[in-house]
Amino acid sequence: MSQYWSKLVHDLDPYVPGEQPKDQRYVKLNTNECPYPPSPNALAAIHAAADERLRLYPDPNADELKDAIADYYSVERANIFAGNGSDEVLAHVFCGLLKHDAPLLYPDISYSFYPVYANLYQIETKKIPLRDDFSLNLNDFSSKNGGIIFPNPNAPTSMAVGLDAIETLLQANRDSVVVVDEAYVDFGAETAIPLIAKYPNLLVVQTFSKSRSLAGLRVGFAVGHPDLINALERVKNSFNSYPLGRMAIAGAAAAMRDKEYFASTCQQIIATREMTVQKLTELGFSVLPSAANFVFARPPAGNAEALYLALKQRGVLVRYFNKLRINEYLRITIGTDDEMNTFLQILAEL
Ligand SMILES: Cc1ncc(COP(=O)(O)O)c(C=O)c1O
Repeated sequence: MSQYWSKLVHDLDPYVPGEQPKDQRYVKLNTNECPYPPSPNALAAIHAAADERLRLYPDPNADELKDAIADYYSVERANIFAGNGSDEVLAHVFCGLLKHDAPLLYPDISYSFYPVYANLYQIETKKIPLRDDFSLNLNDFSSKNGGIIFPNPNAPTSMAVGLDAIETLLQANRDSVVVVDEAYVDFGAETAIPLIAKYPNLLVVQTFSKSRSLAGLRVGFAVGHPDLINALERVKNSFNSYPLGRMAIAGAAAAMRDKEYFASTCQQIIATREMTVQKLTELGFSVLPSAANFVFARPPAGNAEALYLALKQRGVLVRYFNKLRINEYLRITIGTDDEMNTFLQILAEL
């Protein structure tokens, strides 16, 4: 705290990211990164972009990347917004599309950055409780609102909702923006992007950090009606005109074009997830049905915090949230088969 801080800074409640430890090598299952390297084409494109042109500013509109995303999803360049990680995209969404007179609705158990952005931009919010089994009932998002946001699959619960439920929600909320945060969609849920043609109030946000193995490059994007995209461009160009560097644009575009590599790593993670779920269940854990690259599991004795600490001591990092309703659960990222076997073996010993 300091006398030089503005009142806004005094009142902030910043997000705390999962640990990125430097002290030793861990089996790192705590931040939902992909255990496989990025597409070789992405790495080659990043290397090729690292030349004398770095003295120039990059393309402020990241058109090469927008075109690669537009091609992949059969939409137009005008439907795409790109930013420095989906966290930055989400920040612009909160600022530009979700601050209205009525409260913003989001699930009580959800991505913990949402309340941080709401606080930063002074947006009134109302949390809608998940059901007792942690499933998301979109029919509960029925009160008057200035916007709705939820992840699909949800984080940290890993559970997905279907497109019919999303479409019903969109029909019932034509006057507000509905944001579907699809950070984990490629591991088993269905994207809502095809619905943007029918619903000008739908915005879908995705990231290159998970299924495309590029968390270190910081690239995220949103897909929606050009009017929504224009709002985001206006916010972005009032904040930082060049959120993506030359290497990020080239690398992410190449990753998007490499459909085969993407499909094979996603399939591998899904297979490892199913093996992990089975073994955790055999060890007595209750595991929520996962459509993501992580599982949310309750140890038989509910002693999640003690287990988190014991695993850490043995060199395995998972994520523990000391929060109401979920403090008996661990969020475990799916790593390689070897990493998961090490984790499961240590768990059995503990
Ligand atoms: C639900 C959800 N949305 C968005 C993000 C942000 O991802 P990034 O900023 O790396 O694109 C995360 C990261 O963990 C997430 O869990």
